[in-house]
Amino acid sequence: MPTRPQPPAPSSFEINVLPNTKALAEAGAREFARAAGDALSDRGVFRVALAGGSTPRALYRRLTQAPYRRAIRWDRIRFFWGDERCVPPGNERSNYRMARETLLQPLRIPASQVFRMEGEQQPAQAARSYENGLRREFRGRPVKLDLVLLGLGGDGHTASLFPGTAALAEERCLAVANFVPKLSEWRLSLTYRAINATRRIVFLVSGPEKAAVSAKILKKQSGWQDLPASCIGSRRGTLLWLLDQAAASRL
Ligand code: 6PG
Repeated sequence: MPTRPQPPAPSSFEINVLPNTKALAEAGAREFARAAGDALSDRGVFRVALAGGSTPRALYRRLTQAPYRRAIRWDRIRFFWGDERCVPPGNERSNYRMARETLLQPLRIPASQVFRMEGEQQPAQAARSYENGLRREFRGRPVKLDLVLLGLGGDGHTASLFPGTAALAEERCLAVANFVPKLSEWRLSLTYRAINATRRIVFLVSGPEKAAVSAKILKKQSGWQDLPASCIGSRRGTLLWLLDQAAASRL
């Protein structure tokens, strides 16, 4: 079993339970806007890693509507991803395609502000070039994203950090290609090192099928430490769990 880092104690840890998926998307949009506002006033740029899967769709769509469409300085935002499937960008499974359709295209975000993981490339090469791109973005200074949005799988995975996979033991690289035996496929993922350096980490969790794993992690039930999402926490940043009532039903 690959080793994995002890979860750092984030400077602030919060759990917010929302009544339904609509309220979850609204809470996520508010948090996105708050993180963007703080980053833009402090540094004039906001760098965010988007989550994949299906949960974030409603959040991304909400951001394209009032008041967020006009309230956020979209021209100062640079978009990254927490993970990607090893498929071309037009593939229906692509996390980039999902975000392009629900967020980037509706807001007319130019390609110059979008840094996708190239799922169509050879996985190890794609991970290396993603890492190089991140380091270029920070001009050699420590890579420190302003916000990472994360989902949660029923097995406790987040991004593409799946239980029992090699990426869990990665402590040097910021992005890796990670073979996931249970899916029999390669994935691209930010590592704990990259994610846990982020200023704000926000989990978005929705649905009754996430209730057991959410309780296991958040109530530290037996075996919680072995779940990848349990090892997420930003030492000098904040960790916020946003769950709808269905996902939080066993908390
Ligand atoms: C992916 C994700 C993954 C996702 C969880 C939850 O590429 O699938 O990044 O970590 O966030 O599997 O997925 P849902 O939101 O679809 O439940």
